[in-house]
Amino acid sequence: MEFNVKSGSPEKQRSACIVVGVFEPRRLSHVAEQLDKISGGYISNLLRRGDLEGKAGQTLLLHNTHNNIHKDILSERILLVGCGKERELDERQYKQIINKTISTLNETGSMEAVCFLTELHVKGRDTYWKVRQAVEATNNGLYVFDALKSKKDETRRPLRKLVFNVPTRRELSTGELAINHGNAISNGMSLCRDVANMPPNICNPAYLARQARQLGEKSEKVNVEIIGEEQMAELGMESYLAVGRGSDNESQMTIINYQGASDSSTKPIVLVGKGLTFDSGGISLKPGAGMDEMKYDMGGAAGVLGTMKALVALDLPINVIGILAGCENMPSSNAYRPGDILTTMSGQTVEVLNTDAEGRLVLCDVLTYVERFDPELVIDTATLTGAVIVALGKHACGLMSNHNPLAHELLNAGEQSSDRAWRLPIWDEYQESLSSPFADFTNLGDKGAGAITAACFLSRFTKKYHWAHLDVAGTAWNSGANKGSTGRPVPILTQFLLNRAETVTAE
Ligand code: BES
Ligand code: MN
Ligand code: ZN
Repeated sequence: MEFNVKSGSPEKQRSACIVVGVFEPRRLSHVAEQLDKISGGYISNLLRRGDLEGKAGQTLLLHNTHNNIHKDILSERILLVGCGKERELDERQYKQIINKTISTLNETGSMEAVCFLTELHVKGRDTYWKVRQAVEATNNGLYVFDALKSKKDETRRPLRKLVFNVPTRRELSTGELAINHGNAISNGMSLCRDVANMPPNICNPAYLARQARQLGEKSEKVNVEIIGEEQMAELGMESYLAVGRGSDNESQMTIINYQGASDSSTKPIVLVGKGLTFDSGGISLKPGAGMDEMKYDMGGAAGVLGTMKALVALDLPINVIGILAGCENMPSSNAYRPGDILTTMSGQTVEVLNTDAEGRLVLCDVLTYVERFDPELVIDTATLTGAVIVALGKHACGLMSNHNPLAHELLNAGEQSSDRAWRLPIWDEYQESLSSPFADFTNLGDKGAGAITAACFLSRFTKKYHWAHLDVAGTAWNSGANKGSTGRPVPILTQFLLNRAETVTAE
């Protein structure tokens, strides 16, 4: 997709289609009014006759506008898009309208369009945000995963070029910046989605490592290192190794090192992603229904990979290390069992009470491993618990942190990027549920607050640095009719890095 920004009047756009808003009830937006005047009231007439009420998401496509409606209107089509009540136009409604616009344009054979919806007033949001969201929504809306279909569905005349109009020429550079950021983020999301959607017989830990290698080949600033089982054993990562032991696919930890800071000794931001390419539960086997979705248990790693891709595209002046904790959790005579006691890389011992609480056992050793980077801060992201879905559903990921300023930075980044997080506490009282009669602690909390007790477990390995944990089990993929990866948490993580880079540049 090609995107552009422009500042011009609607009738002068020589395009296959121009997109303008109509509010409920039957009220023309400013731009629609301009077209209406030129066409001698053509549009207001349609509305009066009841062709379009203006409810959010309604559309009406007018054809042959240049020839049949008025010669002074240069475009071939006008797409009227219902925007709901003008006063109520908020973020959610705006995104709904843009999504509807994209699917309509793509279906109706306009290969290019000029969109005036970016001029509408959206509560609390500026031109930068409106353009960036529109770019992201377009790229995400047109995403298809058909790599494994033998016959592909091709749109005959797909949307190729979209121009967003901004109110004043002064805002053109803001618009261009928004396009760059939006493209970087949505390309990162597409990579995240591709890798996450890939089935577990193809996407195993070595596949994750290959994806990272490919990214490394595209940038001088990126170095990739892979730690296999032999090296993990030397490092004392007994906990990580135990989880993968039942699988024939080797556990591999992929380290993606991005050096963007002018001073190479600048402390890195470390991102760690849970990369269970399949989580069967192991000996504590999961029930069969929906088990296929456990191919998405590498959603954290896919999110880190996508974020690293966005980071490369944005060329940010910071140092970031992304780690993909690749592993597969399978039952076998070799597999680890409930009752096993593992010595983690930190030296702390863990009694395994459930082999399905495996994510924390993989992550804990990685969180110890990253101490060697002397990190500025560490963020891990993981499809860690079903409990976070009970708590927050699919609209926000769970955020837990040992450092308030970092937690607030992430909450803000989530708001800014429309990939929201909600904080849960990790008070000491919750820690008590991990106590074990035989080891330092167990890998299983007692009933209640499962997302929190999982984070409490991790917090025992993150005492030496500022740390935040994003539980993305509810947000990383959709189930049901539109099953598939969402590309989250690429937006929140990339936004966090953008904000960090901005403070560096401002200094
Ligand atoms: N990967 C799952 C978490 C999960 C479950 C994500 C369902 C999305 C949907 C994780 O490894 C797991 O199995 N967690 C257990 C923990 C329990 C055994 C303490 C869970 O949530 O049931
Ligand atoms: Mn599990
Ligand atoms: Zn899991």
